[in-house]
Amino acid sequence: MEDKKVIAVMGATGAQGGGLCRAILKDVGGGYRVRALTRNAGSGKAKALKKLGAEVVEVDIDDVESVKKAYRGAHGAFCVTFFWEHFSPEKELAEAKNMADAAKQEGVRHVIWSTLEDTREWVPLDDRRMPTLMEKYKVPHFDAKGEANRLFSERGLPTTFLLTSFYWENLIHFGMGPKRGEDGNLYITLPMGDKMLPGIASEDIGKCAYAIFRRGGEFIGKTVGIAGDHLTGRQMAAALTKALGVEILYNAVSPEAYRGFGFPGADDLGNMFQFKRDFESVFCGARNLGFSRALNPAMQTFEAWLAENGGQIPIEIASRQASGE
Ligand SMILES: NC(=O)c1ccc[n+]([C@@H]2O[C@H](COP(=O)([O-])OP(=O)(O)OC[C@H]3O[C@@H](n4cnc5c(N)ncnc54)[C@H](OP(=O)(O)O)[C@@H]3O)[C@@H](O)[C@H]2O)c1
Repeated sequence: MEDKKVIAVMGATGAQGGGLCRAILKDVGGGYRVRALTRNAGSGKAKALKKLGAEVVEVDIDDVESVKKAYRGAHGAFCVTFFWEHFSPEKELAEAKNMADAAKQEGVRHVIWSTLEDTREWVPLDDRRMPTLMEKYKVPHFDAKGEANRLFSERGLPTTFLLTSFYWENLIHFGMGPKRGEDGNLYITLPMGDKMLPGIASEDIGKCAYAIFRRGGEFIGKTVGIAGDHLTGRQMAAALTKALGVEILYNAVSPEAYRGFGFPGADDLGNMFQFKRDFESVFCGARNLGFSRALNPAMQTFEAWLAENGGQIPIEIASRQASGE
């Protein structure tokens, strides 16, 4: 046990970090142990990780000293930031900086930074295809993560840059599930036209991250993109129809319409989907399915994920979103 390499996992009670903790804990003879980082060691989720064998350590990502302490003696650090807690790209950059500073100070041997594209490399701020948001971003929750890549590389940290994909759990928890339109039909609404959206079961992100740690030097200094499926809205609707036993149609709205839905972050997500639509080959190309499955042979397809989780998708009775426009 003492010889095992410690992986310090930010967001351990969340989707990405939780999957990584469970992947490490399941691999009893694998040579790694988990340091689960949380703000509250007394929460139900933290206690559940402890029961499974994790070392649970309290941390506040906004307090660099607490992050340094949390990384002390760790071989690896899984770094993820929490945009949807505060909707601030500047705060997200500060979170990433704290983890990079702490990893440098503590001599962490392998960092996995859960990142996304800085879309401004493809859509500069003066590109009028989509509005500029918060004065200097196109897709704030993507751009800040991409911008933060340099915080890890400039410090010379041995980093793997992990490009994640749209969680299918968004259909359960993020209000993106099927909604009934005024015509009585059920729709999933995405501004993706006929383009493919790379998606993933969030639990698989952690499994991929564990595989990256296990393969050590192979992925240090590299960017690794992962997805379980690349599907059009029509294909997602067909899979939902099959899994839920009720007809679900695809409502392909424009990005402008999506940005106007009015929920918090709708403009950010409208731009995000537009980026994925307009740069389909770049975005899907960065998330190769064969590679992802080689990394994590248990990688779920959308169909497999639906078979396990479809029952949790709420089906709303009425919605402003699914008006068929
Ligand atoms: N939804 C998607 O489709 C998608 C796709 C790709 C990437 N992402 C990105 O994923 C990131 C979030 O990761 P996730 O989905 O794994 O998170 P999550 O499930 O929302 O969990 C976040 C965890 O972070 C911890 N946390 C929050 N604030 C903290 C703080 N100040 N200090 C320390 N820990 C804190 C919380 O744990 P405690 O309460 O235990 O402290 C919580 O369990 C976002 O930046 C998002 O942009 C999302």
